[in-house]
Amino acid sequence: MTILLGLETSCDETAAAIVADGRTLLSSVLISQTEIHAKFGGVVPEVAARSHVQAINLLIDEALSKANLRPDQLDGICCTRGPGLIGTLLVGLSAAKALSWSWDLPLTTVDHLFSHVCANFIGTDLQPPFVALLVSGGHTQILHFKDFNDVSIVGETLDDAAGEAYDKVARLLGLGYPGGPVIDSKAMEGNPLAFKFPEGVVKNYDFSFSGLKTAVLRQVEKLEPPLPVEDLCASFQEAVSRVLVKKTLKAAEELNLKTIVLAGGVAANSELRRKFEAAKDFKVYFPSRHLCTDNAAMVAAAAFFQGEPADLSVGAYSRQPARSLV
Ligand code: KG4
Ligand code: ZN
Repeated sequence: MTILLGLETSCDETAAAIVADGRTLLSSVLISQTEIHAKFGGVVPEVAARSHVQAINLLIDEALSKANLRPDQLDGICCTRGPGLIGTLLVGLSAAKALSWSWDLPLTTVDHLFSHVCANFIGTDLQPPFVALLVSGGHTQILHFKDFNDVSIVGETLDDAAGEAYDKVARLLGLGYPGGPVIDSKAMEGNPLAFKFPEGVVKNYDFSFSGLKTAVLRQVEKLEPPLPVEDLCASFQEAVSRVLVKKTLKAAEELNLKTIVLAGGVAANSELRRKFEAAKDFKVYFPSRHLCTDNAAMVAAAAFFQGEPADLSVGAYSRQPARSLV
């Protein structure tokens, strides 16, 4: 059995977790900075990095004690290398290097996007090949996982990420940050057919969400207060989920794959899950909600299946290099 301690600090969640053989969750703890950044309407990188420094050691201790393990019972340390905010990534990477050196354990780094998808290996028997829809605050991609180490991008957003669109529309409607959870719950009370918002006319498997955001803005400008916030949320959510589901199912059909995997913060969305669950021809996996948004369990799972062995000279990257996906 391989027991890995994972650390995640790519954005505004400080997280530590321990996972055995990439599938069995032994502990997972995190401190979210959402409230700290909410008053700024988005993540302030410098504030985020400082908050990670304050939280990381506490969380490492807590992850070990919850798993009832000592450091000498671990087989390795792993952390997110990128993409993300450089200042915040360096906090997790430096902590992982320090532990690797002082506890004499091998160091492994993982790609943040790949690790979101790997959240689906926890507690399941999922095996490649499959099509993955990765929808987070910073990225929207359809991925073809041919094997654990053989992944290619089938399509991606040309502008805003799906989660970013949620966050921007929420700000427009005065609903605060992050936008996904609050739009999701308001949408449950609204009519998805109240307004017809465009899907974004982009060829093949790519996406565009900036036009949708502008369409919501134009609609809001035309309306008299009080705004029908629930109907706007439901109609916006309908447009986002419809195009995500349509293109992912088409990619799976074309690649002749029957397994679809959802990942990233937006994979927590109720309507997206409902639409995929209705696609009876496919076996659809999605992580439990706490494993959709940033966490360290997915880091330890990814490190087991696809981690890159690293030494103390390894650096972080803010944008995903092509080589991390092939
Ligand atoms: O994966 P994640 O935690 O961080 C990134 O790596 O970006 O995703 C955060 C994003 C935010 O944009 C947030 O608004 C969105 O996920 N999100 C949701 C829901 N929960 C979180 N979007 C739609 N519906 C949700 N229930
Ligand atoms: Zn993420």
